[in-house]
Amino acid sequence: MERTLCIIKPDGLDSGVVGKIITRIEEEGFTILAMKRARMSRAVAEHFYAVHKGRPFFDDLTAYMSSAPVVLIALERENAIAHWRKLIGATDPAEADEGTIRDLYGRSRGVNTVHGSDSPENGRIEVSEFFSEAELIQQR
Ligand code: CMP
Repeated sequence: MERTLCIIKPDGLDSGVVGKIITRIEEEGFTILAMKRARMSRAVAEHFYAVHKGRPFFDDLTAYMSSAPVVLIALERENAIAHWRKLIGATDPAEADEGTIRDLYGRSRGVNTVHGSDSPENGRIEVSEFFSEAELIQQR
């Protein structure tokens, strides 16, 4: 079964749409294996987004992600990676399909409300960066 890490970014908490996003997660048949609210340090954000180091947006991205609390959710579902990415929409909210989470709530490419993992392998790696195996609990 695939896993993806959902991060509800600071703007999602500021806008008060955490509940709405969790409702979408439940409606789409994901299992919430674990969930917590956290404040990332700059070092943790830099490590998490290390693949983007050297890109022009890296400093703004890591400053933003460590600027305020986020909600981290470990999700599991068949085809979780593609399904979650379809549900959240394109990186740039202006290009996101109608009704997707970034279309509804995103403000810019950097401030785009949610994160999703980009491959099954990275889904497992990203989930394990924030949750121990003991914290990941199956529904049944
Ligand atoms: P996320 O899914 O968290 O993974 C990488 C993040 O980098 C992405 O969401 C965007 O928020 C951010 N990002 C990607 N491209 C750009 C860009 N061109 N300008 C600003 N931020 C970007």
